[in-house]
Amino acid sequence: MTNHTLQSSLGHYSFTSPFLNASGIHCQTQAELDDLAHCQALAGIVTKSATLSPRAGNEQPRYVDLANGSINAMGLPNLGYSFYLDYVQTDHGKPTILSVSGLSQAEMLTVLREIQHSGYQGLTELNLSCPNLAGHPQLAYDFAASKTLLTEVFRFFKKPLGVKLPPYFDLNHFGQIANLLNCFPIHHVNTINSVGNGLVVDIDTETVVTKAKGGFGGLGGAMVLPTALANVRALRQRLRPDIAIIGTGGVRSGADVFAHILCGADMVSVGTQVMKEGLGVYDRLAAELTAIMADKQYTQLADFRGQLKTLSASQRSSSRWTSQS
Ligand code: SIN
Repeated sequence: MTNHTLQSSLGHYSFTSPFLNASGIHCQTQAELDDLAHCQALAGIVTKSATLSPRAGNEQPRYVDLANGSINAMGLPNLGYSFYLDYVQTDHGKPTILSVSGLSQAEMLTVLREIQHSGYQGLTELNLSCPNLAGHPQLAYDFAASKTLLTEVFRFFKKPLGVKLPPYFDLNHFGQIANLLNCFPIHHVNTINSVGNGLVVDIDTETVVTKAKGGFGGLGGAMVLPTALANVRALRQRLRPDIAIIGTGGVRSGADVFAHILCGADMVSVGTQVMKEGLGVYDRLAAELTAIMADKQYTQLADFRGQLKTLSASQRSSSRWTSQS
């Protein structure tokens, strides 16, 4: 096998591999975060999106595993931003990404002011895309409101700040969100959050499967991989080159990780598959990714990052390595 490295970076922050947890997955409590700190194949820790005050979240059932992914309506259960801000100010041996959110723009601004005034020097990520809060739309689908918020944020926030985006489905919308983000000193985008407001039906009981919002919930896992790849690719083609990308969504295998990076992801985070398989998934993904790289004689992720090719008129794709089989 060729000498290879999975070394990755997000801006000036270095990581031993491209692997992150998706915010919300195994990152809410001290014990869960400590598990992430001890998981060697995981290169960085992303905290559960935190609000100003602790939240219990939505009623159970609020996460359901599906054959082709998952549906959740968690409702931002978290211990409050001050717990996570304390946590990330302790050295855990790997970089941290402090994910924050809020039920209003005022709440988001308050939390970000506290982070700005703290001693935290790591990465912060503003979640503009939680789909599970009854009565609260996903902010990043409102381009004017997002612009107003980011204008206000960057008046005072001088630390590296990324944003977590929902999936977009229209080429025009990819252009609109990229043009907007390109006007701000955004450190990275994390794309995608779950595909909001799906509905899973149990025909035996003739009911929905999650409780909040009448059963509408965010979809994740294998079924969202093509949407995630499209968002990584479309944003990479439109964002300033210095804005890094965390690819999130649909990763089950090393081939899926390879596909995210081929579309332009700098790092890749894993959600539903951690719920299905546990933290051991990262060792498997690293081994599978390494095998694909060795087969293709790539020695570093930069050898293929963003190098996705399109098909000429007479060409058809055929491959042993498919990310969507
Ligand atoms: C949730 O807690 O409802 C999920 C968070 C998110 O999707 O942003």
